[in-house]
Amino acid sequence: MTRILTVPTQPIEGQKPGTSGLRKKTKIFMGPHYLENFTQSVFDAIGGVQGKTLILGGDGRYFNDRAVQVILRMAAANGAARMIVGQGGLLSTPAASNLIRKRKADGGVILSASHNPGGIDEDFGMKFNGANGGPAPESVTDLIFARTAELTEYRTLEAADLDLGLIGTTKMGDMAVEIVDPVADYAQLMGELFDFETIRNLFIGGFTMRFDAMHAVTGPYAKEILEGILGAPKGTVVNAVPSPDFGGGHPDPNPVWAKDLMDTMFGKDAPDFGAASDGDGDRNMIVGRGIYVTPSDSLAVLAANAHLAPAYAKGLAGIARSMPTSRAADRVAAKLGVECHETPTGWKFFGNLLDAGRVTICGEESAGTGSDHVREKDGLWAVLLWLNILARRIEPVEQIMSAHWAEFGRNYYSRNDYEAVPSERANALMQRLRDISGDLVGQKYQGLTVESADDFAYLDPVDGSVSKSQGIRISFTDGSRLVLRLSGTGTEGATLRVYLERYEADPTRHEMPVEQALAPVIAAAEEIALIREFTGRNRPDVTT
Ligand code: G6P
Ligand code: ZN
Repeated sequence: MTRILTVPTQPIEGQKPGTSGLRKKTKIFMGPHYLENFTQSVFDAIGGVQGKTLILGGDGRYFNDRAVQVILRMAAANGAARMIVGQGGLLSTPAASNLIRKRKADGGVILSASHNPGGIDEDFGMKFNGANGGPAPESVTDLIFARTAELTEYRTLEAADLDLGLIGTTKMGDMAVEIVDPVADYAQLMGELFDFETIRNLFIGGFTMRFDAMHAVTGPYAKEILEGILGAPKGTVVNAVPSPDFGGGHPDPNPVWAKDLMDTMFGKDAPDFGAASDGDGDRNMIVGRGIYVTPSDSLAVLAANAHLAPAYAKGLAGIARSMPTSRAADRVAAKLGVECHETPTGWKFFGNLLDAGRVTICGEESAGTGSDHVREKDGLWAVLLWLNILARRIEPVEQIMSAHWAEFGRNYYSRNDYEAVPSERANALMQRLRDISGDLVGQKYQGLTVESADDFAYLDPVDGSVSKSQGIRISFTDGSRLVLRLSGTGTEGATLRVYLERYEADPTRHEMPVEQALAPVIAAAEEIALIREFTGRNRPDVTT
């Protein structure tokens, strides 16, 4: 017998969803009532789950399996009609987004702290995606947070754990629980978007690649699609088995954390193409033989060549990028004669533009790229679009990049992060910039003249909502740009991100070391923002 229990509880402080859901140390999530309170608040904030169908899965990190059982019991007790769960409790973020859309679910719960390390002493997270498959907008996350502050009870079911390994439909109380293959629907979607035949021929022709799944959720997806369907040699996908602590690593696909892949791609026997994805499979990193492609450049190249893939053969409706992402994509949009949008950091800001059919491809400097096929960024999608382009152009990545820069100019780009800065110091730095931004125009720093400076505010052209204080933008007359903002995803103190960009049209100057090309912008950043003085740091903790 199953019995509904109403459990008295009290509000827990700090359950405020950030850029991408609620992220906390795993032990906090495992604390008394923590997961339960947040889950009930999500359910209440969306108007209850009575009679609804939700998708549920996560990236396999520590506590994923147990959290799934808790959420299932609570969904049943709250009257949900059906939960569709990835086998083993696994679903990559883009695969979950796809399932929400495909199965016309009312939304989905994704358990992940994305690229943050996993384990009992590391991070856990939970986010809610709506019926369009995308992250809940701020209006909803505000409601969730408000609910966490007034919660007095939650509902759960007295029921045993379900076996998440068995594909098929079973019942928990009156609620149907459908356990599905996490890969199948996603793989089918990819087959509809891309020219798998041509990519298969590329591999038959001896093309070599390495995909590093970083012990995270994309392992099974990449194995099935790259090695299974597309015939890449066995062993192409490495670190392919998801583990609760991601093999003790940091599943963030960038040159720092995917160093093994970088070493391979810059080594003697480098394969033709390298790629990696993050904990929950929505980020990507692209590397050619001896060349790293920045996410901003990758967005621009994908947009410029998307027509080579069947799904985008008719052209793009428009392109969107987050504000700190380099303006390389803007030049592609201008040439294609399509709309170009600059949105605040956070994939959720692309949702309205995608739903309204205003843009087809979106991307962020933080290694996210995606399209209107789902409502999340999608790591493997980006890798497959690159493969499709490589299969059609039959040119090495390096050549594709230099041809792109020759055509559009090169936007040298880099990001400097100052991590775990005491919040009051980081806030003071930002506040000072807000205060002085009006006076910067016309001033000269390190030979660069400020053309415009503001605290970025976004007016959503679809629903008219305004998001203020999204970061300081400082543009210089030579096309260089400086952006400063505080991260919305850190779990310790504040992370100051300094984004540096310089435009260079002249092809004879496209081969400079990035640091050298950006030296004046880096020096201007220090002079304007007094980073050393405010943070007490002489250099950034991480440069990507
Ligand atoms: C997550 C979001 C992205 C965002 C990134 C960086 O991955 O899904 O949309 O760009 O975080 O956010 P941050 O606030 O840390 O710079
Ligand atoms: Zn992620």
